[in-house]
Amino acid sequence: MTARTSISTRIAIVGGGPAGLLLSHLLRRSGIENVVLELRDREYAIQRVRAGVLENDAAQLLTDVGLGERLHREGERHDGIYLQYAGQRHHVPFRELVGRSVWLYSQQEVVKDLIEAHDEAGTPPRYGVSDIELAGLEGDGPATVRFSHEGEEFELSADFVVGADGAHGVCRPSIPESAKKTYEREYPFGWLGILAHVAPSTDELIYSLHERGFAMHSMRSHTVSRLYLQVDPHDDVANWSDERIWEELDIRLGTEGWTLHHGEIFDKSITPMRSFVSDPMRFGKLFLAGDSAHIVPPTGAKGLNLALADASYLHDVLVAWYRDGDGAGLDEYSPRSLERVWKIQHFSTWMTRMLHRFSESAETDQPGAGEFDYQVQLGQLRQLCTSDHGMAQLAEVYTGLPFLTYPSEH
Ligand code: DHB
Repeated sequence: MTARTSISTRIAIVGGGPAGLLLSHLLRRSGIENVVLELRDREYAIQRVRAGVLENDAAQLLTDVGLGERLHREGERHDGIYLQYAGQRHHVPFRELVGRSVWLYSQQEVVKDLIEAHDEAGTPPRYGVSDIELAGLEGDGPATVRFSHEGEEFELSADFVVGADGAHGVCRPSIPESAKKTYEREYPFGWLGILAHVAPSTDELIYSLHERGFAMHSMRSHTVSRLYLQVDPHDDVANWSDERIWEELDIRLGTEGWTLHHGEIFDKSITPMRSFVSDPMRFGKLFLAGDSAHIVPPTGAKGLNLALADASYLHDVLVAWYRDGDGAGLDEYSPRSLERVWKIQHFSTWMTRMLHRFSESAETDQPGAGEFDYQVQLGQLRQLCTSDHGMAQLAEVYTGLPFLTYPSEH
């Protein structure tokens, strides 16, 4: 066996997605040394198509830490959304209702800005790392992360390890089964998502419940639209010709006096939908952040925002530890994060159930119960869209619950 090269740092961050990169950026600004390890290459990180909505506080945080320049130039502030059902479109005016907005700026762009900031600081993530193994998470002494990189074997020792390596990463499985509980729910549908070279046909995002299923109109720029269709999660994109996609979007998004522009589709994929939480988000010297600890269904675009919120809060508790030797924040990280995670799980589940067509009832096998539930969903949407209180409740969470801070301001 070849000898391992020993290196050390304060915080070893596994995963170079939004959670890992933001945490690294924040720690660097606070003078806390850290290393980011990523299995994939840089191009993969930049090319991955994900959702496109930043909550009010997420956009504010990025701006406060020097990452807001392109966001403000190329992103777009949105003050509401449209909810549509039974062919009728209703505006939910966030800003009027709760005084906050969201920003349309995609996860890909956030990741690009973060990578650029790392390059500028001369601390790029290590890409293309393999064979990551964690050890020493409990007890005294440093934690270690063993990995291979460019044909060399390393042993990285650190005070703490952060698992920001997504739902299928190595960090969560490093927590013994007996030390965690997982909660999971799958949905009987997925989203077919497309990117098309066509000017958006709408000024606000449209979330539409149609009897044939959910559809959504989002956007990426003045010339690129992002659209989604509820489909069978096991369906194959090969079954969806461009023509069939536009036909189905016309039907599900259609409303009188409005036309959906069609254009060249340049990206197509089907994503299954599920909810997942792993509790606790800490095991000894390992802290989980983002998708490694929790997955939400995409309705309402909370995945990226949760990841950024985790990174921001984890930064605060680590700073309190290094600056003041205050370990209470480290202890609070998991329980306080999970409280917030479950509120967002509620929101994402609520939006998903309200806006998707369940061919069977979610609760019972009784024949016809799915039809009954669909009528209840229409009643729910009618109630919501005619009540300022109902709409304000949606607006409050859609634009974002406050990010957690430490020491807490409350
Ligand atoms: C987008 C995705 C979402 O899940 C959502 O709720 C809103 C927008 C998007 O990709 O733009």
